[in-house]
Amino acid sequence: PLQPIMIQGPMPIEAQYFTALLSNVTIEYAGNAVFYKGTLDGYPIVVAKTGKGLENTAAATAIGIERYHPRLIINQGTSGGHDPSLKVGDIVLGERSVNASNFKTPRLAQGEGSNPLNWNPMDIMASEGSAGEGSSAKDAEKLRFYLGDKQLIALASSLANQYERGSVVKGTIGSGNFWNNELDRIAWLNKNLGTSVEEMETASAAQIVHAYRTPFLGIRVLSNNITNHGEYDPTTAEDCQAFVAKVIKAYISNI
Ligand code: 5AD
Repeated sequence: PLQPIMIQGPMPIEAQYFTALLSNVTIEYAGNAVFYKGTLDGYPIVVAKTGKGLENTAAATAIGIERYHPRLIINQGTSGGHDPSLKVGDIVLGERSVNASNFKTPRLAQGEGSNPLNWNPMDIMASEGSAGEGSSAKDAEKLRFYLGDKQLIALASSLANQYERGSVVKGTIGSGNFWNNELDRIAWLNKNLGTSVEEMETASAAQIVHAYRTPFLGIRVLSNNITNHGEYDPTTAEDCQAFVAKVIKAYISNI
């Protein structure tokens, strides 16, 4: 049997449009995830509505791989801009993704407060030992970036001129169970982690697909960007899915 292509979207508005493009849809459930199985241009597709955040995404990714053995996974949806040159409606192809919420804090005594701009990145995959204390702790004080699939990035880039809502650029997707509204925090993440956008899922899926060696790409539209007064616009979720559909149709036509 053909290995399906899996399209992940966290929220209903990030999965429904793509699901509606499929023929012969059947629905399967697992925990917080809903899998819509169907075909696009005759090729098997699974749209995974994962639910929001790192945990739901990791679980849906592992279950999705074990159950459907996809040949590739795209995690797509909305995001918030960290790069002031990106506008609401622009799309970032995740050349890299990073968990932007893994930190180890410096030691401070009682009464010395908490200073998030001094926190160090923490790589929980650096070793099997403790990330906080002992011989392996220092190794964990670094960033871990997951790379998007190069062929998919090239294919998606080649279709950029077919996206009318905005630009399609390569960049870094920062993920965490957070919604940052502090402009100094956003600037810090942009400078120190290199994040183009933030959202709550891509790096979580990337960590799991890396372990399973499944080709992967995060594709994220900006639904908001407070660095340049870009007002939240949820209709961008549909534009993102329409662009992803173009990428997938082009991919299928080359199989
Ligand atoms: N910060 C965090 N998550 C965001 N999302 C869109 N914009 C942002 C933002 N500025 C996405 C997340 C999550 C949902 C709340 O929207 O990925 O799924």
